[in-house]
Amino acid sequence: MTLDLKAAATTLNGLRPFPVAVTTILNGRANGLMSLSAGAASIVPEAPRVTISLTKYNLTHDLVLESGVFAMHLLAATPEEQFAISLDILMGLGGSSGRDGDKISQFRTKPGVTGTPILLDALSYVEGRVVHSLDIDESTLFVADVVAAEQLHDGERLRVGPAWGALPKEWIEQYDRNHHPQLESARRYREQAKS
Ligand SMILES: Cc1cc2nc3c(=O)[nH]c(=O)nc-3n(C[C@H](O)[C@H](O)[C@H](O)COP(=O)(O)O)c2cc1C
Repeated sequence: MTLDLKAAATTLNGLRPFPVAVTTILNGRANGLMSLSAGAASIVPEAPRVTISLTKYNLTHDLVLESGVFAMHLLAATPEEQFAISLDILMGLGGSSGRDGDKISQFRTKPGVTGTPILLDALSYVEGRVVHSLDIDESTLFVADVVAAEQLHDGERLRVGPAWGALPKEWIEQYDRNHHPQLESARRYREQAKS
């Protein structure tokens, strides 16, 4: 039977509508990216866990793998001025690699309990220490104990749909240029795993 990719996309696309800003630090080197893979990973309310899937191609992946710490921030859709700030964070972290230069110092931050930079203009965050990780060929799935959490502002959570619709065309082109080699790398990892 041929795999129905359209049906797969209908089922899977947009399952996680909230883009999160992931930050981390290793030996003083801070970095971060945007992700749509974040989720809650425990049913125990007094011991929350978070899961995140990071592509091996990305610098943040390597830093989290080694440091075992990260923060995962939700961005704000409201009030209006906060929406613009959230887009700045999305564009600053999600369209280029920290391998090409520092991405964090342009943002207002404070160190979290793990030393990870906390984005002060985010809506809220959880900070985690990795307790399990699973190599899934092109990515690693990290599961972390939440060791700190804070609501920094009031407002609604930013969804990727309205955010994407408001991003400048030039930035989306840059994102596509950044995404293409990442996808090729992912396909190579999958091929290697077969052999
Ligand atoms: C909305 C959005 C969602 C993304 N989701 C993920 C994701 O789940 N995992 C991942 O590794 N990269 C994801 N990316 C791509 C990274 O954010 C992007 O490749 C980034 O430039 C990597 O930076 P780094 O090399 O400094 O870590 C996403 C990007 C955007 C804009």
